[in-house]
Amino acid sequence: MKQAMTYQSNDQNAQLRPRAGRAGADHDRDVPEIDLLSPLTLRGVTFRNRIAVSPMCQYSAVDGFANDWHLVHLGSRAVGGASLIMVEATAVAAEGRISPGDLGIWKDEHIEMLARIAKFIHTQGAVAGIQLAHAGRKGSCDPAWKGGASLMTVEQGGWAVVGPSPVPFDEAHPVPIPLDEAGIDGVIAAFEAGARRALKAGFKVIEIHAAHGYLMHEFLSPISNHRNDQYGGTLENRMRLLLRVAERLRGLMPEDLPLFVRISATDWVEGGWDIEQSVELARQLKGLGVDLIDVSSGGTVPQARVPVAKGYQVPFARRIREEVDIRTGAVGLITEPHYADEIITGGDANLIFIAREMLREPYWALKAQQALGEEPVWPVQYGYVLKRRAK
Ligand SMILES: Cc1cc2nc3c(=O)[nH]c(=O)nc-3n(C[C@H](O)[C@H](O)[C@H](O)COP(=O)(O)O)c2cc1C
Repeated sequence: MKQAMTYQSNDQNAQLRPRAGRAGADHDRDVPEIDLLSPLTLRGVTFRNRIAVSPMCQYSAVDGFANDWHLVHLGSRAVGGASLIMVEATAVAAEGRISPGDLGIWKDEHIEMLARIAKFIHTQGAVAGIQLAHAGRKGSCDPAWKGGASLMTVEQGGWAVVGPSPVPFDEAHPVPIPLDEAGIDGVIAAFEAGARRALKAGFKVIEIHAAHGYLMHEFLSPISNHRNDQYGGTLENRMRLLLRVAERLRGLMPEDLPLFVRISATDWVEGGWDIEQSVELARQLKGLGVDLIDVSSGGTVPQARVPVAKGYQVPFARRIREEVDIRTGAVGLITEPHYADEIITGGDANLIFIAREMLREPYWALKAQQALGEEPVWPVQYGYVLKRRAK
């Protein structure tokens, strides 16, 4: 059995499972021995299995700063055996936050605590990733756990939001200020600066948040983008902003670090963004050197009828993987290890992102090893006790 290489770590928990699989191969779709617990290598980064912690806003930052909550929340899931810990949507500009509690990366002072988090994740043998985001017209809201209402005025603690066009998300949201060319260049520059800070903080994966009705997705979707300049109208024009951001980020990232893009494969509404456009987008992102498309859906239209069910977004990941021959991540109501394993072994996706079930069970990945008949690789501090007690 070939053990894949991983980055150096001096911590005893940074172990990699000695599993079969062509982890270093360029494409693993026809390799029958690949399963949920197989390592995955993207560029120079090896993930110890196919289990990722999906980005989840905690709304617990002040002025964008990460704190001990984020360290413990993310750190415990790294201890829990996942291979990729994706830090929540982290705003590249203060006005790009969903809520005042969002994480931010718009100033150098944000780097220090993020670096501490990334370092801890790496000492546990997981890979630290960060999702860079701009909320666009869906910014300036109360934290979700306070109800998520729009903060319409400065007195309420809100701020002016921007978007492609003066079209609000719904009546309860403000009308966004349409970005002009200089504003668009500013957004691109903010993503670039955010990415540089993320690299300084030590993150090994950057994900562009282009899903869920936030700014990048707002430009993609004809529902929210009514522009008639080079950023609106045709599919090529609507994709332009995201493609420019992806190109710049790929250009500044070291060759050995992967770039992901999270998309909404469909708006779930007639006349909106859809899977056919997503396939074309993925093709273009692949051409720019994006390594994985993290396939989610929805978020543009409040009243969209989403057929939420077990693995309901998995077919989109499969289609993009098949038609574009790019690696994909599957997400959405994947809660059970055997099902997650089937998604990998069935060739639907290369990586499984788990969100809410990871909140219920930070040790989900270790439990999955057990459920799939393997000896869980507990952190050494726990493992020797648990093994002894099992005897
Ligand atoms: C509390 C919470 C916060 C979330 N924050 C983000 C986020 O920051 N970025 C993102 O792309 N998705 C976010 N999501 C969506 C999840 O990453 C995931 O796509 C969704 O919950 C479906 O996966 P699940 O069924 O495993 O929960 C969030 C979900 C939850 C429950």
